[in-house]
Amino acid sequence: SPAEENECNRNFPEWACQRKAKLEHLNKKLTSAVEVLQEFAELRDSNQDYSRALAFRRASSVLKSLPFQVQNVEQLKGLKDIGEHVKTVISDVLDHGSSSEVEEILKSEWFKKMKLFTSVFGIGPSTAKAWIERGWENLDDAQKDGCPSGDWRIAWGLAFFEDLNVPVGRIEAIAFSQIVQEEAECILPGVITTLVGGFRRGKSQGHDVDILLSHPTDGAEMGLLPKLIAALGKRGLVLIGHKEKNSFRSDILYQDFKLSARGQLDHFEKWLGICKFPKSFSTPKISKKSKPEINQPTPCTTDTDLKATADSSLDESMNELYEPKAKKTKGSEAIELEPNRISAAPRDWLARRVDLIIAPKSQYYYALVGWTGSKHFNRDARLYAQKKLGLKLTSHGLFNLEKREPLTAQSEEEVFSHLKLPYIDPADRNC
Ligand code: CTP
Ligand code: MN
Ligand code: MN
Ligand code: MN
Repeated sequence: SPAEENECNRNFPEWACQRKAKLEHLNKKLTSAVEVLQEFAELRDSNQDYSRALAFRRASSVLKSLPFQVQNVEQLKGLKDIGEHVKTVISDVLDHGSSSEVEEILKSEWFKKMKLFTSVFGIGPSTAKAWIERGWENLDDAQKDGCPSGDWRIAWGLAFFEDLNVPVGRIEAIAFSQIVQEEAECILPGVITTLVGGFRRGKSQGHDVDILLSHPTDGAEMGLLPKLIAALGKRGLVLIGHKEKNSFRSDILYQDFKLSARGQLDHFEKWLGICKFPKSFSTPKISKKSKPEINQPTPCTTDTDLKATADSSLDESMNELYEPKAKKTKGSEAIELEPNRISAAPRDWLARRVDLIIAPKSQYYYALVGWTGSKHFNRDARLYAQKKLGLKLTSHGLFNLEKREPLTAQSEEEVFSHLKLPYIDPADRNC
């Protein structure tokens, strides 16, 4: 009833991180329209567009958490994040089935090209704009010119564009994380392996596989990543990737309270790359007879293998293995030839984006929250922590900048209680 709805709007929690937002909600038609406007503003990416994007994001987040299906804009009375612009869009969708503003955007060549170009691994809005300014219409134009920046992500992202744009299924993601768990356990017994990102929030598909690794003993996780990549490489699962060193520095952390709302950068040691997922990964296990290869126990890499790959000089050569050789040579010829040659060859695997993140146990539960997302949940929780509590929240911890102290957590629940937030289940963080 209208009275009940009004009551509900009055009590509606102000922050997205205080609300439950399931993947399936009642206002999909409205949120998808608002999200087009949000995306358009994000891609245009001027300062003004940035605040517009934020407003659309907040509005669609509210719609996702509403306990009723909106049939009339009157029902939105009292909800502070639903502004006049959004109300117009919602009325249009409710009255005519679509919004003309949204339709215009979807039709525009600029938007289509931006969407296409930014769907390439390694391409953000600024590079996409530069490509459009060069007059490029499609990915063939980009392929013809090779990889102008020499960025390995773009070269491989273009070569494996089709594979990488087939959504990763939950079954594949789980199959791969089980192998990561097995190999990591051989290298570092007791290792904690968690499938994070959208899959942890219950999504059945994703654009990549995000895996967070830690160990009950703080510091024991050091040295795991290169060995793990080597072990996965030995199993033929690695196509290309890049390691980033841990760059966390508490002295820098305490110096700056600036919330980089635009970036989500953390300082964990990580590997960002592309893996080779055998096609059998996406086939559910039926019986031992039909799919013997997935049901057999998979022996992990031997100790001697690991000693060899743990050697630091070998570690350097591993780096070369996973980076285009062209970096060493002049020009970008090799960088573009190599990935194309591999992608064109007959193969029984799909290229999949994988992020492996290493967190020490003392930061693990904050890393878990950060890497579970959603992106909007993180942005909102970080802003909430700053504005309401005067604390800085990152994937490394929650920090009191005045006292120069971290608020440590031994569980995800404790992260929420430090934040004075009700605990929200990962499946309810799809805000
Ligand atoms: N994230 C982060 N730091 C990064 C990259 C991502 O903290 N450098 C967070 C994102 O905010 C997100 C989660 O880690 O909450 C996973 O990122 P991503 O894979 O981009 O998004 P998903 O939610 O997993 O979406 P998808 O299913 O499309 O992969
Ligand atoms: Mn959104
Ligand atoms: Mn993801
Ligand atoms: Mn990711």
